[in-house]
Amino acid sequence: MNGSDIIILGIESSCDDTSAAILKNGEILSNIVAGQKVHEKFGGVVPELASRAHQQNIIPTVDTAIKEAGISKKDIHAVAFTRGPGLLGSLIVGTSFAKSFALGRNIPLVEVNHMQGHILAHFIKNPEGHYPKFPFICMTVSGGHTQIVLVKDYFEMEILGETMDDAAGEAFDKAAKILGLPYPGGPLIDKYAKEGNPEKFQFPISNIQDYNFSFSGLKTNILYFLQKELAKDSAFIEKNLNDICASYQHTIIKTLFKKLVLAARHYKIKDVAIAGGVSANSLLRSELERIGKEEGWNTFIPSFQFCTDNAGMIAIAGYYKFLNKEFVGQDVAADARMKF
Ligand code: KG4
Ligand code: ZN
Repeated sequence: MNGSDIIILGIESSCDDTSAAILKNGEILSNIVAGQKVHEKFGGVVPELASRAHQQNIIPTVDTAIKEAGISKKDIHAVAFTRGPGLLGSLIVGTSFAKSFALGRNIPLVEVNHMQGHILAHFIKNPEGHYPKFPFICMTVSGGHTQIVLVKDYFEMEILGETMDDAAGEAFDKAAKILGLPYPGGPLIDKYAKEGNPEKFQFPISNIQDYNFSFSGLKTNILYFLQKELAKDSAFIEKNLNDICASYQHTIIKTLFKKLVLAARHYKIKDVAIAGGVSANSLLRSELERIGKEEGWNTFIPSFQFCTDNAGMIAIAGYYKFLNKEFVGQDVAADARMKF
């Protein structure tokens, strides 16, 4: 360990993943994620069960992160945690843990906004040295949010557009539930779509103003469509699962890029990134490359472990705040509706 090294412990617990990461000078030494299988059978996250599972997982997860990083507790310079937005009961577990850890070790405490964390994941050290340059645009697509963000500096971000109702991840998960797939259904729709025909069925692309989105109509549309088809043939889903998934996924991704292209052209931005759980989607990733070439963009796609919720992204955001000496006191409280 070098005297000038900065080691951050990151804690993430905003939804249904308990995660802890160790970051040294911007480089990930460990990034442990404990998922929660308990929600699968409910078709969505049950907040009460999530916070209980976080309580069970938090200490072993942090322990594993420290061990895997090959450091000891006393090497940690600061604790960064997700203060919000997210589920209050879940956030409280991570926030309380981070506060106790900082107090016990007498080290600074750094609060992080979860959505900023998703975006700043692009600054985690990578072997290619491939980082976006300010100002850039990041489309953050997750289970709770869908935003087009103009990123002017690490913590200077402007939301250009966002969803008026459901998030893109929710549109994936809710359709998956209707199709009888377990939660979270996004990755499964992605998997079945690979074998399907995206032009087979037509779903509507919402027509909402500016750089905003709406996905609730799409969910209703697939529900009515399936009800109608199932009335004619009760095996319709089994016979057409791949094509339904491909067509539905294609509609979501087309909707997202329609607005992303408009925003990037209007603001004359050439560095364009994606972030959040849905950025693990294979069509979203390949379309960013394809459209990016057409538009002359430099594109930025996080590696899979930094797409879905993880503490690595919280640790990198915490690292930049640590450099700015932006600390919070022991009176800090979780904020389910935290804005940036
Ligand atoms: O960022 P994240 O882990 O949690 C939130 O902050 O919401 O995002 C989770 C969302 C879920 O809706 C999940 O279905 C979706 O990301 N997701 C995907 C894929 N992998 C995760 N959606 C589509 N295709 C994927 N491959
Ligand atoms: Zn997230």
